[in-house]
Amino acid sequence: MTDTQDNPTVSITPESAVTQMRQQNAVIIDVREPHEYHREHIAGALSLPLAELTSEQLPNGKMAILYCGAGKRSCTAALQLNASGNRNVAIVEGGIAGWKAAGLPTTKSLQAFAPEEIKAAVADRYGRVATAPGDKFNFPVGRRFAESVGYDAALLDRLPQGLWESFTGAGNPQAFVDAQPGETVLDLGCGAGLDLCLYAQRVGPTGKVVGLDLSSAMLDKARHNLAEAGIANVEWLHAPADAIPLPDGSVDLVTANGIYNLSPDKEAVMREVTRVLKPGGRTVFAEIVLKSELPCEVRREIDDWFRCIGGALVQEDFLARLERNGLSRPRVLWVGRNARTGHELSLCAVIRAEKQP
Ligand SMILES: C[S@@+](CC[C@H](N)C(=O)[O-])C[C@H]1O[C@@H](n2cnc3c(N)ncnc32)[C@H](O)[C@@H]1O
Repeated sequence: MTDTQDNPTVSITPESAVTQMRQQNAVIIDVREPHEYHREHIAGALSLPLAELTSEQLPNGKMAILYCGAGKRSCTAALQLNASGNRNVAIVEGGIAGWKAAGLPTTKSLQAFAPEEIKAAVADRYGRVATAPGDKFNFPVGRRFAESVGYDAALLDRLPQGLWESFTGAGNPQAFVDAQPGETVLDLGCGAGLDLCLYAQRVGPTGKVVGLDLSSAMLDKARHNLAEAGIANVEWLHAPADAIPLPDGSVDLVTANGIYNLSPDKEAVMREVTRVLKPGGRTVFAEIVLKSELPCEVRREIDDWFRCIGGALVQEDFLARLERNGLSRPRVLWVGRNARTGHELSLCAVIRAEKQP
């Protein structure tokens, strides 16, 4: 340990940090910049890059143990906190390897996930929403959530339980999706099939709906649910939304309820939507969008992606990307509270755009 009058910064070993953490005497703070969040970080560490680090952000009465890949910044951070009156600050020695050896749990950073890994992780997590909807998730699932975003309780009562117990949409686009009798409707990320079932009823026996999902468990559940609801005009696609196995110009309407923020390559999804739409066709969907960029700690772990915020775009950027990828007149039909995460910078929007006739 070092402690001098000029530089009151204390450095501690990873083993002492582990002890402090176990005794709940300390919080670990990662003071790296967002672009340094490659590879791994300490699970449960607060992320406060230097520019955002102030005494007010620190939990009262606990030691702040600062961590940074390159020691110099931790030292600057400690001095910064000391200068703002907080003396209960320490820097932990060593790097990730030392932390791991000392027994601190580490987590892979979101930035270290390749797009295919993100998709696999999403399929896995949402597969669990299908098979074990009563488990604990870091996003809302099920009946109460569906009602909170406006699905009518009496309507849900008339539907098989499997349709709503795994509901986990971004919101409720139903009132804005103008599916007409005889049309073909593609629902991207159909999940357990609640929206899909309601669109199938609207397009009727002369039309059809297509449910696409990355998770085979979700698709199995949706298939079972729609059969139980007596829906026959439905087809299934086990595929990612960025490679839709349908011919060009084959769909009247593409819908979704929370697919883009979970998709690593959003523009590829937009291009696919444009490709499969018939000329003059439209897309109407609910999505989580942002008022402005999120602070970095909200996008640090794969769990942040699952709860539909880690991968969300700022609204204007989202609309601009739709246009850039062939969808005209992108516009917000409705915007309201994001009931999924409740994060103050995020919103749920219902968005519409068209393919040129
Ligand atoms: C937020 S949930 C919404 C499910 C459903 N629409 C609902 O309202 O309950 C997103 C769904 O999209 C699927 N999904 C996520 N990313 C996907 C992707 N890139 N391609 C296809 N499906 C995806 C997930 O497996 C999950 O079932």
